[in-house]
Amino acid sequence: MEKRENLQCIKVKKRRGEEIRRALKELELLRTDAKITSDEDFIYLPLIRALKEEEKGEIGVEELLTREFKVLEQRKKIEDVVGFKPSYEIVGDIAVLTDVDSINERTEQLVAHALMSLHKNIKVVAKRISPVEGVFRKRKVEIIAGENRTETMHKENGCKYKLDLEKVYFNPRLASERNRVASQVERSEKEEIIDMFAGVGSFSIQIAKRVPQSHVTAIDINPDAVRYLQENIKLNGVRNIEAIEGDIREIYVKFRNRADRIIMNLPKSAYLFLREALSMLNPKGGIIHFYDVESSYVGVGKKKLIGVAINKAREKLTAKIKEVGEDFHVQSLEILEVRKVKPYAPYAYIIGIDASIMKYES
Ligand SMILES: C[S@@+](CC[C@H](N)C(=O)[O-])C[C@H]1O[C@@H](n2cnc3c(N)ncnc32)[C@H](O)[C@@H]1O
Repeated sequence: MEKRENLQCIKVKKRRGEEIRRALKELELLRTDAKITSDEDFIYLPLIRALKEEEKGEIGVEELLTREFKVLEQRKKIEDVVGFKPSYEIVGDIAVLTDVDSINERTEQLVAHALMSLHKNIKVVAKRISPVEGVFRKRKVEIIAGENRTETMHKENGCKYKLDLEKVYFNPRLASERNRVASQVERSEKEEIIDMFAGVGSFSIQIAKRVPQSHVTAIDINPDAVRYLQENIKLNGVRNIEAIEGDIREIYVKFRNRADRIIMNLPKSAYLFLREALSMLNPKGGIIHFYDVESSYVGVGKKKLIGVAINKAREKLTAKIKEVGEDFHVQSLEILEVRKVKPYAPYAYIIGIDASIMKYES
């Protein structure tokens, strides 16, 4: 028999539905056993519990209410099978265990086989065996169950990304961030976008697909990433992206004064590339989506932890642009938004900054 329950939910305009659904899922606030409903203009997203004030701000909630939902039969959870909640992420049909120091080999195998039997779409289970490292920002993984491969096809926000987990950088947890940035690109204007550290095209393809009249220059130094980027451009049927292999420091001059919008997703080192970014920005100025890693302080109250990192990132970017701005005719900098994108390490976060830069016309 069909079960129905009155649940707290978020009412959100349809165009923001997917973005908010993903944010709620990442924060583990979405009732995944209840069927999302919609009417002509709105989507209703069922919640696990009432939201705290800071969560409302973080998610950008429009309206909260109580509504009746169809509740689906519960699927067995991994913790019911293995007795604890393992940390893992899913890229395409590969599950990657992310916290392997805390479990032994026997438990790894138990988790791997439980994952494959609960999720029929998972064909490979691997575990992280190195941090993300080097110029190409790659990490090593070891396959512990299933097929012997690290190449897969990941689907996200209506785009397909073919990639090899060991040859390129890819983070499925940035899905809502990519969606957020793509949704800022004006459909009515012919925006020129430069993705300075494009990887397999995770930001670029989403933008190009969503806004066909835009043009994206997607650059990466890793030949494997550019090979996948080219393949992904074809797979997604987008024609408005130019894939370029190279070190941005050596090739940026070709793109001087080109961009209305620049994406700088190289969190630990993006500061070192600000001169190149400002030089590529259009002579009137434009928007920069900048990513940084900032730590908070041990001992700061839990509520203030993220605020400290956010302020550090804002102050650092403002100071750096002030330092080099004159050389690039920077007239003003407006920080449009600063937010925590995801945790990076204990007491450290990836912080995203959207900045609007105006230039004196030279
Ligand atoms: C953190 S990854 C981001 C990839 C992609 N934007 C994403 O979100 O999936 C950074 C990328 O920058 C590339 N990279 C690092 N240094 C570079 C440089 N000097 N010029 C161009 N690309 C570079 C790396 O190869 C890597 O693919």
